[in-house]
Amino acid sequence: MAEIFIAEEQTTLGIKRLVALKRIRPEFEQDRTFHRAFAEEARLSMRLAHPHIVTVFDVGEVADIPYLSMEWVRGRDLSTLLFDEPMPLEPALRLLTDVGEALAYAHTLGIVHRDVNPANILVAESGVAKLSDFGIAKAADTRGRTTTGHLVKGKYSYLSPEQVRREPLDGRSDVFALGIVAHLLLSGRHPFRRATELATLHAILYEPIPSLAPSVPTPIAALVSRALAVDCEQRLTARAWLDGLDIACMDARVLRSHEQVAAIVTSTATTVLARHKPAPNEHTR
Ligand SMILES: Nc1ncnc2c1ncn2[C@@H]1O[C@H](COP(=O)(O)OP(=O)(O)OP(=O)(O)O)[C@@H](O)[C@H]1O
Ligand SMILES: [Mg+2]
Repeated sequence: MAEIFIAEEQTTLGIKRLVALKRIRPEFEQDRTFHRAFAEEARLSMRLAHPHIVTVFDVGEVADIPYLSMEWVRGRDLSTLLFDEPMPLEPALRLLTDVGEALAYAHTLGIVHRDVNPANILVAESGVAKLSDFGIAKAADTRGRTTTGHLVKGKYSYLSPEQVRREPLDGRSDVFALGIVAHLLLSGRHPFRRATELATLHAILYEPIPSLAPSVPTPIAALVSRALAVDCEQRLTARAWLDGLDIACMDARVLRSHEQVAAIVTSTATTVLARHKPAPNEHTR
């Protein structure tokens, strides 16, 4: 739905900084539904202040087209760091901890992301991961649940069982998606992706989780399984995921350092925004 540009922002004092500018793709510009979604993303994002969540600076309109300016995460999104083979344990668990912290924080504010997937996990050159794109996030109601709505939103291969069934959801839905990312990082393969969308959704609901390699410590493999429980009552919360990771990493003597993640990011030459045809000065304000 969106296009991202790197833009140079200039303040009244003449100080410049590079920001990431997000705007609705031209083909959707006339659709007010997208305008409303954009406004909602801005509203929710601006409530969030966390080291593992992309900071949104500003929101506005140019010629009736809304835009959102945010911190430019110089690095790559996680979808570009997946290479059909497992990521080494230490950096993978560092990334999964960073994203877990972002989710635990958002969930305490009653915000469910609903679209956790590798393209929405930005990994800076420093190795720090930041969750982005609260484009379809929702604030929970007073019972702590959000509705799925008539349309199922989010990348279908990262939907939780309750999203597939269009049931009310809470933060544990995001933990399921994080469990898929975890499995993907530790095995090199998406656990549920099949040849068709329907077969993938069927696998999410009914098929067993493929076993992880024996090289993955048993407590970590057990945590991934508990993140992927079909019944959300059996599933971990983001906080329990983090606590479980701390204990498992301590027991297995796994050191989760950002340096190891940074080494993976910088070993690849181009920045992620190259895919999005950056036009550096196109949106200077
Ligand atoms: N702040 C940022 N810094 C660096 N790169 C970013 C930033 N925000 C987004 N990107 C890049 O742009 C991509 C798309 O951004 P985003 O996820 O916010 O939009 P989207 O609505 O999902 O767009 P689409 O539906 O076209 O994928 C991200 O996957 C990432 O590669
Ligand atoms: Mg996205």
